[in-house]
Amino acid sequence: MNKHSRPMTGGRSVDEITGSRRLRRMRKADWSRRLVQENRLTVDDLIWPIFVIDGENRRESIPAMPGVFRMSVDLAAEEAARAAELGIPAIATFPNVDISLRDQTGSQILDADNLINRATRAIKAAAPNIGVITDGALDPFTSHGHDGILRDGVIVNDETVEQIAAAAVLQARAGADIIAPSDMMDGRIGAIRDALDANGFQDVAIMSYATKFASAFYGPYREAIGTKGLLKGDKKTYYLDHANSDEAVREAEQDLAEGADMIMVKPGLPYLDIVRRLKDEFAMPTFAYQVSGEYSMIEAASANGWIDGEKAMMESLLAFKRAGCDGILTYFAPRVAELLKRG
Ligand code: PBG
Repeated sequence: MNKHSRPMTGGRSVDEITGSRRLRRMRKADWSRRLVQENRLTVDDLIWPIFVIDGENRRESIPAMPGVFRMSVDLAAEEAARAAELGIPAIATFPNVDISLRDQTGSQILDADNLINRATRAIKAAAPNIGVITDGALDPFTSHGHDGILRDGVIVNDETVEQIAAAAVLQARAGADIIAPSDMMDGRIGAIRDALDANGFQDVAIMSYATKFASAFYGPYREAIGTKGLLKGDKKTYYLDHANSDEAVREAEQDLAEGADMIMVKPGLPYLDIVRRLKDEFAMPTFAYQVSGEYSMIEAASANGWIDGEKAMMESLLAFKRAGCDGILTYFAPRVAELLKRG
């Protein structure tokens, strides 16, 4: 009989079967459960992704993401100050760019005064102590919603990388602390590192979306940044096949070799096996993105009274910690921070 197979009870008592070991003993009271708890979620684990739009004093709701809003830069700066006060370490910005500014190559990303860079400056002015994370992907800026330059039906890698590296320098100049390219082009981490260093931004870090999978869970995000109606086809020629795990290790290894300071797994909850593998393999700062679809599922089930939304939110985030995450990008961040503060 192998040690994991089920013993035959044969009329024996539980103690005869298990010896004196009773695993329920430490679960009997709140104090003992707290004492042996292995993982904890704190405000220091949270990164808050927010959506920004043009204009002033504007707040738009996003139907697929109840409780999440697109905010004009002034309001985003106020919210960043509130987040800093709550102790949230960092904020990640995503722009919903006016459709008239989107084009085939996403050239708007190279405007030093674009929405994302204006947001960074405003957030840094309002909340100097919160980390600002900016995205390097082209999808908010392209007329086709793809993350790279689209030519003859192909997302061209190297030209896209060049553009993203140039954009990263502008983002750093605006005050970004971490550049987090979410595009999955080959070679982008090395190119961004070189460009940052060549421009004196040695202290600006890179969080690589090292393993970003082609996923249905991004749906609500595309509504939030306005690419839903634009995107034709899918992103399978650059995002990872969600059937693969070894390939995820190769992606992370490559990005770390090119100079990534932190790595990220995206989506989150369905990919905790990848988180654990990367943490064990590389022992690097490892993050996960609880993406829009994951947020929306919890919100929708909660709104229907099918689950306790607050408990599901906390359980899902603790699961990331258990899997080995150092932090989580989550739309729940301010709600969680408030909950943790209340204790
Ligand atoms: C694209 C990008 C995506 C997300 C952030 N940046 C995926 C996509 O639209 O294909 C997803 C975030 C989320 O779903 O919360 N560079």
